[in-house]
Amino acid sequence: MRKKTLLALGAGAAVLALGLTSCSSGGGGDTGDKGGDASGEVEVFTWWAAGSEKAGLDALVDVFNEQHPDVKFVNGAVAGGAGSAAKDLLQSRLQAGDPPDTFQAHAGAELQDYIDAGQVEDVSDLYDEFGLRDAFPKDLVDRLTVDGAIYSIPSNIHRANVVWANPTVLKDAGLDPAAKYETLDDWFTALDAVKAKGKTALSIATTWTQVQLLETVLLSDLGTDGYNGLWDGKTDWKGSEVTDALKDFEKLMSYTNTDRDGLDWPDATQQVIDGDAGFNVMGDWAEAAFAEADKKSPADYIYFPVPGTDGVFDFLADSFTLTVGAPNPDGAKAWLETVGSAEGQEAFNKAKGSIPARTDADTSDFSEYQKTAIESFGKDTIVSSLAHGAAVPVATLNKISDATSKFTTGASDLAAFQSELAAAVEG
Ligand code: BGC
Repeated sequence: MRKKTLLALGAGAAVLALGLTSCSSGGGGDTGDKGGDASGEVEVFTWWAAGSEKAGLDALVDVFNEQHPDVKFVNGAVAGGAGSAAKDLLQSRLQAGDPPDTFQAHAGAELQDYIDAGQVEDVSDLYDEFGLRDAFPKDLVDRLTVDGAIYSIPSNIHRANVVWANPTVLKDAGLDPAAKYETLDDWFTALDAVKAKGKTALSIATTWTQVQLLETVLLSDLGTDGYNGLWDGKTDWKGSEVTDALKDFEKLMSYTNTDRDGLDWPDATQQVIDGDAGFNVMGDWAEAAFAEADKKSPADYIYFPVPGTDGVFDFLADSFTLTVGAPNPDGAKAWLETVGSAEGQEAFNKAKGSIPARTDADTSDFSEYQKTAIESFGKDTIVSSLAHGAAVPVATLNKISDATSKFTTGASDLAAFQSELAAAVEG
């Protein structure tokens, strides 16, 4: 009998009261066609173009089609994980006065960019119209709010600091799949064991996945206060603690596949699914890929927080906007109604691996992993993801990504990398 081993996710004290219930009544906002008399086409811009991400989008579109049969969904998805290609293209379109009706944007600093540029409309009246004021955790709505206005409707919450692993590969390397790694140092020993078997110890892909690994190493080594201080100026980017963290990052990169820069996240995750790699650090959109693979051919997988980050939920949330100058604002509002509805959130998140942003969604049939994420989100310390738009503006993230790519391709040394990171954040 196959068995998914659950390693403890989250044990630390919660600092934010962001509890999500695992099962309750559907709540408001999911009934009928309150979005008005929308018709025509609505272009929805995302980067959920393939695989499990497209499956998530498709599930949401199915609910949209039921709730708004008179509006035709037009898929404006642009491939590339974490919006690596989509965000640039979106910016060109917005600047050229050719906006999609609605687009995916991360809650936090990234959304602030669009607000500052006057590219997204205040949708707070829709919160009233759709009964959303109390549907989302207050802290999340705060991240979407500026000067009393709310600029998007969240569709989901993802966790970035998760390690996914193949227990068969671990067992073959003489490791106990149920072992817990308290620190990165403990984990290095396990990575050595997998490497000694001739397998990729830690699979990874192109730059943004490397930045995501970097953020989890900073979180592990600096702790939550130190990590948060990187974004509010309280932690010295040039200090020795950051140097030590970058050394750990360099060491972790030494366990990764050398073809990484030509790959995207599904390729790296697939290496673990296929038993070609032992571990992969990936946001929990990977859950959807593992679950999908599991349907075709039952495959064990395990997951645990990146060593040294137990009790911390490295958070990001996708949300949808109403663009300034949207060709079909009523169509966009209809889409936003579905995004915010309990029915939409249940269907979408079940398929996407994430958890609903609504606190009243019925998650009783969600996966075992997703239930752990709901529990962790309710009690862990929440921090903002760097690679996924929550912690810093897009321009800063782009500079950090460039510095990371230079370092991991051998075009800069650790001292130069650290200086470039410091300069990127200091602006
Ligand atoms: C998005 C997720 C997406 C992931 C990989 C993140 O930035 O928030 O929805 O699955 O990128 O593409």
